[in-house]
Amino acid sequence: MQSEQGAYQLYIDGQWVGNQSGKTFPVYDPSTEEVLADIVEAGAYEVDLAVQAARRAFDSGPWASSTPQSRARILFNLAAKVREQLTPLAEMETRNTGKPIVEGEGDIEAVAEVFEYYAGLATKIPGLVNPVSANALSLSLKEPIGVAGLIVPWNYPLLMAAWKLAPALAAGCTCVLKPAEQTPLTAMMLAQWFEEAGLPPGVVNIVNGFGESCGAPIVEHPLVDKIAFTGSTEVGKSIVKLAANTLKRVTLELGGKSPNIFFADADWEASIDGALFGIFINQGEVCSAGSRILVERSIYSKFVEAMAAKAKTIRLGAPMDRETRMGPVVSKDQYDRVSSYLAIGRGEARLASGGGRAVQFDKGYYIEPTIFYDVDNSARIAREEIFGPVAAVIPFDAEPDAVRIANDTPYGLAAAVWSRDIYKAFRVVKQLRAGIVWVNHMQPTCVEAPWGGYKQSGTGRELGPWGIEEYLETKQVHINLSEKPIGWY
Ligand code: NAI
Ligand code: MG
Repeated sequence: MQSEQGAYQLYIDGQWVGNQSGKTFPVYDPSTEEVLADIVEAGAYEVDLAVQAARRAFDSGPWASSTPQSRARILFNLAAKVREQLTPLAEMETRNTGKPIVEGEGDIEAVAEVFEYYAGLATKIPGLVNPVSANALSLSLKEPIGVAGLIVPWNYPLLMAAWKLAPALAAGCTCVLKPAEQTPLTAMMLAQWFEEAGLPPGVVNIVNGFGESCGAPIVEHPLVDKIAFTGSTEVGKSIVKLAANTLKRVTLELGGKSPNIFFADADWEASIDGALFGIFINQGEVCSAGSRILVERSIYSKFVEAMAAKAKTIRLGAPMDRETRMGPVVSKDQYDRVSSYLAIGRGEARLASGGGRAVQFDKGYYIEPTIFYDVDNSARIAREEIFGPVAAVIPFDAEPDAVRIANDTPYGLAAAVWSRDIYKAFRVVKQLRAGIVWVNHMQPTCVEAPWGGYKQSGTGRELGPWGIEEYLETKQVHINLSEKPIGWY
């Protein structure tokens, strides 16, 4: 996996390999700001090698003749390996992202579940007999799309990779995976076990590098059939434009500014807890973060006070400490980006708690859990994705007001509604323009249920049967049952 110089190599065609340029780049532990590892950098040349390998494995390699049963076994093997190696994987994820170890363990557990789910689903994708009027047997067959380019972010590095690898492999696709440049380490740990799990060379290739020089060449490559991307809306838009040249299938899971809506009749303790959990889990680096907290005016002041008091008790600390509930944000870039929004927020709204660097740490990208209130929904901190531990609390007057504010955003990934009144809660659910809506909870994610956004939060759905559908083509087969010539001429 590592070269003589100690840099993590690329994984192409079943081999650990170096690159043409000789360039490497560092990845960091965001809690100490120290270099964790050096990574061999892939550019267009290495992307081409990876794509060619994936293409061969799909067109003529053993994957072309693989059966759903054989793919299921490989995915079960991978899941078993992930469970067996849960501790080292979770520790690596935690060291590289800064997330608390208890969350890192949850992520890796979820990775195993995703592989298990799609191992099971691999053998349960039937075709159809179409009820045509012609004297024919008409079939719809499901076939893999081909070579899939998988571009993933740094907030849930191995989990986001698994959300894409598992359905792609179950469907019979081959893959070129590009982890985020900040967090490539757990994907490479996984690659060590590909051969043992039974994955033939070339079926999954991993290239590490930066967006423009390594991600874009995957999107441009004429031999790639599909792109699955999770990341910023801005990059998502550039991917759609670039993919248009070769008309690739594209699925996108992008940003959000998800409303977490609290009515006065909701359970009080559960609400305060849910408001904090919705925005502060994983340092707020969550696509579905409940970053706009909408609170009914009759409970608004008390709610802000209670949230602020409880936010001050959130235990920031070393990511490897089991008591830690918030670590540093992932990188210097992210720290600077979030800090710039703290400054913007001070000019736009009032501060209930936090608002700056967590000064008890002299190293690491720690930011205090921050709550702005009296935020107008037109403020930048209410409209733009911050992707850090920063909440914007907005008061509302009644049900229609809550729905109007909730939907007044370019995004539509997630939303949550808290109330004991099921009529009101379900009325609101129906009106929310978002792909995922929770009632009296926020953030639970189940591999069996669809995940994806409305509006500018993306296209397509991951997880569940929807997730595998995005890696499948549909072939119509028309089998003539009349032995007579057509007889037209
Ligand atoms: P990003 O969207 O630039 O990066 C995500 C992935 O896309 C990485 O693997 C990156 O190398 C790749 N990428 C970047 N530019 C590319 C290009 N032109 N072509 C192909 N691939 C490309 O996200 P970044 O810069 O790390 O974070 C910026 C903001 O994006 C965050 O503050 C957050 O608001 C949002 N974001 C949203 C995520 C989500 O889960 N929805 C995940 C990560 C970031
Ligand atoms: Mg970027």
